[in-house]
Amino acid sequence: MAATRKRLLVSGPKGGIGKTTLARNMAVAAALDGLSVAMLDLDMQRSLTKWYSKRPDEMAPIAHFEAGMDRVTKDALAGIADFDLLVIDTPPSIEDHPEAFRLLADAANLILIPTGQSDDDLDSVRPWMRFVRKTKTSGEAAFVLNRVKPRARSFTEAKSMLVRDGRVCPIELPDYEDVAFTSSKGIGLLELRGAKGTEYVAGIWSFVRTELGL
Ligand SMILES: Nc1ncnc2c1ncn2[C@@H]1O[C@H](COP(=O)(O)OP(=O)(O)OP(=O)(O)O)[C@@H](O)[C@H]1O
Ligand SMILES: [Mg+2]
Repeated sequence: MAATRKRLLVSGPKGGIGKTTLARNMAVAAALDGLSVAMLDLDMQRSLTKWYSKRPDEMAPIAHFEAGMDRVTKDALAGIADFDLLVIDTPPSIEDHPEAFRLLADAANLILIPTGQSDDDLDSVRPWMRFVRKTKTSGEAAFVLNRVKPRARSFTEAKSMLVRDGRVCPIELPDYEDVAFTSSKGIGLLELRGAKGTEYVAGIWSFVRTELGL
């Protein structure tokens, strides 16, 4: 048994910000690149697991695991072995699980923190990034702007605020209906023919892949 090469943690304090969306689209992008990929769903709402259960057989293979935040241990994480990449999706209010989060943060090579461009989102994710950077002993953390309206002034304002607190993925995901559509089909945006927004997902994945050194 070989250790899983890289772990990508998608987390943030806010609900509905795009954690599960980002997690599954990164897993799909990695699988399409021919990497061996597993996902771990730690959210008891099981959104990622429900998506996975709809995944058509002919799609690029992804392995799937589920657990509760109270089951997160070093050994449990090490037990998911032999993959190039493990993508971990977390519940909202992650700050309620400080011990589990510390373990996950230490085990992760990269933490992605999705956020929208609204002040409400920024007020929540900016202090979280500061906390993450204090907690994390190795590896990197980066914001990913999601569901953005790039033409609005608040978009550039949001980006300018975020760079004060940490890294920001240079490519963001706009609001596209196809993103929500694929969530009910068990596929990633990159797997939907003619989908809008694929270049953004591909770009975010390129950033992640480079950051992970995969
Ligand atoms: N870029 C996008 N464009 C359009 N819809 C999006 C986009 N990102 C996310 N959504 C939709 O927004 C909703 C919330 O996204 P998602 O479930 O990924 O958030 P979450 O952070 O995992 O939420 P929770 O905290 O409840 O687990 C979903 O219905 C999803 O399809
Ligand atoms: Mg979710």
